[in-house]
Amino acid sequence: MAPVSGVEVAKHNSKESCWVIVHGKVYDVTEFLPEHPGGQKIILKYAGKDATKEFDPIHPSDTLDKYLPADKHLGPIDMATVDSSSEAEEVVSAEELARLDRVKRMPPVSQCYNLLDFEDIARQTMKNTAWAYYSSGADDEITLRDNHSAFQRIWFRPRILVDVDRIDLSTTMLGGKSSVPFYVTATALGKLGNPEGEVVLTRAAYREGVIQMIPTLASCSFDEIVDARKGDQIQWLQLYVNKDREITKKIVQHAQARGCKALWITVDAPQLGRREKDMRSKYDESAAQVQSDESTVDRSQGAARAISSFIDPALSWKDIPWFQSITSMPIVLKGVQRAEDAIKAVEYGVDAILLSNHGGRQLDYARPAIEVLVEVMAALRAHGYENKIEVYIDGGVRRGTDIIKALCLGAKGVGIGRPFLYAMSTYGETGVVRAMQLLKDELEMNMRLIGANTVADLNPSFVDISSVSAHSTLPADNLSLQAYDKLITPSFKSKL
Ligand code: LAC
Repeated sequence: MAPVSGVEVAKHNSKESCWVIVHGKVYDVTEFLPEHPGGQKIILKYAGKDATKEFDPIHPSDTLDKYLPADKHLGPIDMATVDSSSEAEEVVSAEELARLDRVKRMPPVSQCYNLLDFEDIARQTMKNTAWAYYSSGADDEITLRDNHSAFQRIWFRPRILVDVDRIDLSTTMLGGKSSVPFYVTATALGKLGNPEGEVVLTRAAYREGVIQMIPTLASCSFDEIVDARKGDQIQWLQLYVNKDREITKKIVQHAQARGCKALWITVDAPQLGRREKDMRSKYDESAAQVQSDESTVDRSQGAARAISSFIDPALSWKDIPWFQSITSMPIVLKGVQRAEDAIKAVEYGVDAILLSNHGGRQLDYARPAIEVLVEVMAALRAHGYENKIEVYIDGGVRRGTDIIKALCLGAKGVGIGRPFLYAMSTYGETGVVRAMQLLKDELEMNMRLIGANTVADLNPSFVDISSVSAHSTLPADNLSLQAYDKLITPSFKSKL
């Protein structure tokens, strides 16, 4: 194919005819415009121009091959003919300069002693849009904060004089072996934090013997993440259910064929929550996976809304038998929040449930999973169902003690999302490996200190849960604190 001239490409700079250059190749995306899950606006900004810089951080590399018909691939560009003078010089703000300076002065990874250390460094060094997307929670972020503080409402009842010379952290989850009772949970848009994206988590997970859940809305393609797997490393699939069930079926069956060991169906997000910090950061990157048939997405809604228009709000219990009919992978409902639904899950024959409020990103004032766990285990025991289903939790986990508390209360494993993203966004694979090792160290030491040798030894007798549901101390409502006038007491006269 003869190279296309830049002059020719530049003419196709409108909605009526829209060509873009990506990685030295020209694409006619005119007909694709209405289908872009990230909206037309962002593509039109690059109409007739090179969009590589904008495209790269977010899209899986196979996106264009997969979603754009072959006749829209117009061939290589003759770079010498591309007029780059029209590209506006980016004005770097003082804030951005200060951030770049902090990136240069980052402490060595060895100075991170716990997961919150990574989080704080990420807060100070990540790009605003990325930080806002990862860190934001729904509405007033009360659930986001209480997920963390709920662990502080549980105290230990250690056993003494137990021989704790040898501690074994290994366990099984959904029939697969894991070196630890935690896993990397699914989180979207990995390339916002690290140019390599989710495969960084895959490599670190392999090195530390940790299971990884692959997100539907990853920035790397599903196959790239699976291809990065080594040896007998275990991966699971997290699924957002598409309105088009044929697409969903294809995704699920492809995942099973590629060796995924479980299907985690997200059930807490018929619509993605309002994360105002994310919305405020005026996300204008391109979207992740292309699954939508909606014409426009309001960019002011933030990253979450921009990438999720394909999710089916009509998903219901009625769909569960269908999932069971299309796959032999164990099925997990991801996002159960009350005992009644846990019981129903057993009765529908699902293999496991994840108690989760989606990292505080969905319904504000949803209870922390660790608190729901107490209610759920009591109900399962009352029905004689405690061995019929595995129970997982996630949300707010930052310490080894948090994991131990969850296991004592009956969780089979604990999901960790943001902390590994922050470790990846700051120190890449080395950071994620260190974060996992720190958790292992904390787990080992604290198992020893409570007098338990193995995961199987942990039981409710090790914890005092008398305050777990006490919501008397709510996390600070930061927005109202700032917006409401401070109440004041009478002032004294200045003069007599
Ligand atoms: C989120 C989705 C995509 O919480 O899981 O942003």
